[in-house]
Amino acid sequence: MLYHAPSEVDFQLDDCARVPVPTRVVLTTPTYFDVAYVINPHMAHHVGTVDHDTARRQWEALREAYASRGVYPEILEGVEGLPDMVFCANQTLPFYRPTTASRGVVLSRMHAPERQAEVPHFARFFEQLGYEVHRLPESLDTDFEGMGDAIWHPEHHLLWGGYGFRTEREAYAAISEMLDVPVLTLRLDDPDFYHLDTCFSVLDARSVLIYPDVFDAKGRALIDRFFDTVIEAPDDEARRLFACNAHCPDGEHVLIQEGCTVTNERLRSAGFTPVELDTSEFLKSGGSVFCMKLMIW
Ligand code: ARG
Repeated sequence: MLYHAPSEVDFQLDDCARVPVPTRVVLTTPTYFDVAYVINPHMAHHVGTVDHDTARRQWEALREAYASRGVYPEILEGVEGLPDMVFCANQTLPFYRPTTASRGVVLSRMHAPERQAEVPHFARFFEQLGYEVHRLPESLDTDFEGMGDAIWHPEHHLLWGGYGFRTEREAYAAISEMLDVPVLTLRLDDPDFYHLDTCFSVLDARSVLIYPDVFDAKGRALIDRFFDTVIEAPDDEARRLFACNAHCPDGEHVLIQEGCTVTNERLRSAGFTPVELDTSEFLKSGGSVFCMKLMIW
């Protein structure tokens, strides 16, 4: 059930089982956040330049942005020596299984050795919450970076899967089988957009915000097939300000790095309300709003 192109797709969005909108968010404290190594192009020249007080203030504002919209953060403490753990979208893929109404996570296999030790902390966190915790099969030697690359189509049991840098396409075959879900795969090939969540942000079941230039013709055609409204962010805002790493928790407000003027105008024309936040310290590490949170059921 992996699909590359619309010609292979033999179902409609409405054929996919309905899934509730997740209403809880997990955030990881930025206590030990830093740029301590370079594993994506955005981190180059930023090693050792993080202003920790500013980072803490920016993270508190993010937490408040969720809380004030009634999305109450569950907090996982950051761990010393794991400077990227604050990007808590990457260590797992949370899921809601519509057939049994059960909740769980699939654990990631981080591509960068520097990040691999983050995953057991999330495994423990979710075990304590009583979630099913699944691992990719031992026999499969493949990278997978959770919700950095695997993104649920809102309100449906349908998964979008980016691959090319941090996740290999084979991982989705295992996930598709494990969760009994179709996966629409999107190939990424611009290193600035190394995770799907850097260039693709679902807003609601019918709308998505993308940076168009990273997708090949098949990928773009898949996106057009499943979304009625496709909002495009311009190059500068997508690449430098991570416009497409925005997050829409409620189908209306879009939490987005401040300064994305053109993107915000396009969001407003489509009926969304941008909520600007400053994540500049985290942009130094190649991340913004979407990757600093994990939505769970
Ligand atoms: N420095 C982190 C890394 O390269 C940033 C991760 C940002 N996460 C994301 N989903 N885009 O892995």
